[in-house]
Amino acid sequence: MKDYDCVQFLQWALEELADYRTYLEASPGEWRMLDTLCPVTISRFYRDKAVFTALEQQLLPSLIRKAIDHGQNKLKVWSAGCASGEEAYTIALIWKLQLQQYFPGFQLEILATDLDPAMGKRISEACYPYSSIRYLPERWLHQAFLRQHNIYCLKPEYKHPIMFHTQDIRYNQPVDLFDLVLCRNLVFTYFSTKLQHSVTEQINKVMHPGGALVIGCHETLPENVRGFDVWYGPHRIYRKAAYW
Ligand SMILES: C[S@@+](CC[C@H](N)C(=O)[O-])C[C@H]1O[C@@H](n2cnc3c(N)ncnc32)[C@H](O)[C@@H]1O
Repeated sequence: MKDYDCVQFLQWALEELADYRTYLEASPGEWRMLDTLCPVTISRFYRDKAVFTALEQQLLPSLIRKAIDHGQNKLKVWSAGCASGEEAYTIALIWKLQLQQYFPGFQLEILATDLDPAMGKRISEACYPYSSIRYLPERWLHQAFLRQHNIYCLKPEYKHPIMFHTQDIRYNQPVDLFDLVLCRNLVFTYFSTKLQHSVTEQINKVMHPGGALVIGCHETLPENVRGFDVWYGPHRIYRKAAYW
């Protein structure tokens, strides 16, 4: 394509794009269709090692102790935009392999939600390609997974029960109170600032005071958001403020 043709093409494409955006804003049905066409469902076990190490060594023990002090016998975790359960099962593995032994009688309850209903089946199958599990510590991989050709399936005894709900976080949140919420690589990457504010407010409402919110390593909470204090800044971990 000559330079001149190329500029003309870009002008045409941008005009079409602007028209399409106007159409989108007036057509909820088209939004829904577009949603189904461009989901980004990439996830990995132990994605961002430093975050999961902080969770294992500091956050989870601290949240569990706080829960026990408040008379709770279980910790409630919500993985929002859970993809195929990689994040939820990583928390379950940290619990089963590292922490459970120090907190006898205590339980971990995990809810995973995603816009895509197909994720429920993937979570219950719990079988993953190597690319999904390659960041896991070697020992955990050998202990908790069975290799079947090129697929790695969680052994039944490590398949912690994960409740799955199909849910669009823009419009609905679970009806419960959580001690730990993981909302990574979704709201604070893809949503408009206005929507980020309203979703953050909704997340805050379903958390216990002092509970932890973990967002993606390359994400930030929107400016002037209320109700959260920074807990582990570099890892993008926040704590629900007790009063605000
Ligand atoms: C990039 S993946 C992130 C997965 C995981 N949280 C992580 O960080 O590894 C984004 C997930 O959010 C889901 N998703 C997209 N829009 C959503 C919405 N409006 N409500 C709930 N989930 C959504 C996608 O289906 C996908 O599984």
